Amino acid sequence: MARERQWMLRLLALAALSICVALSFAACAGQDEHEYEAAQMQEAQDAEPASLTRSEHSATGLAGEKLFSANCSMCHGANASGTSQGPPLVHQIYEPGHHGNASFVIAVARGVRAHHWDFGNMPAVEGLSLDEINQVICYLRELQLANDIIDEIPASTPC
Ligand code: HEC
Repeated sequence: MARERQWMLRLLALAALSICVALSFAACAGQDEHEYEAAQMQEAQDAEPASLTRSEHSATGLAGEKLFSANCSMCHGANASGTSQGPPLVHQIYEPGHHGNASFVIAVARGVRAHHWDFGNMPAVEGLSLDEINQVICYLRELQLANDIIDEIPASTPC
């Protein structure tokens, strides 16, 4: 009996130990993820402002630039290069394969729940017509093109 109890105790100790190990791995993984996000945010903040001369924009893009400056750049930065309030949109994450033009329209109309970054949620931006949102998208795709994020403006972009 005593022997059996000793085995039971050893087994329990082993189980407790493996739970501890599993938990500390989980803690480590969580921390890594957090560090990754912190690094991404730093990278976004350090990113060189994407510069582009005005003459490289189409007329639609220029109209979009004005709307972007008035409605988006306080968070997404001048030239969509990011601020401490929001991510850069001239970024691989926002190329059309990941975020098509429709996702830009939805982001503006409904807001965005934070999922890629640690900046918090984006509130819906009111007061822009679909036509105006499309002008902003044209401006952003032209910026992405000029900064080698994309090779061509997607056909669905109303530039
Ligand atoms: C108050 C700050 C703020 C303003 C103003 C703002 N955004 Fe955002 N936006 C954010 C944040 C923060 C995110 C990132 C959410 C995340 O973690 O994925 C974001 C994400 C986005 C995304 C990505 C959507 C997705 O599906 O992941 C798009 C597109 C976007 N914004 C476009 C715009 C445009 C266009 C405007 C102006 C009309 C604008 N934003 C104004 C803060 C803002």
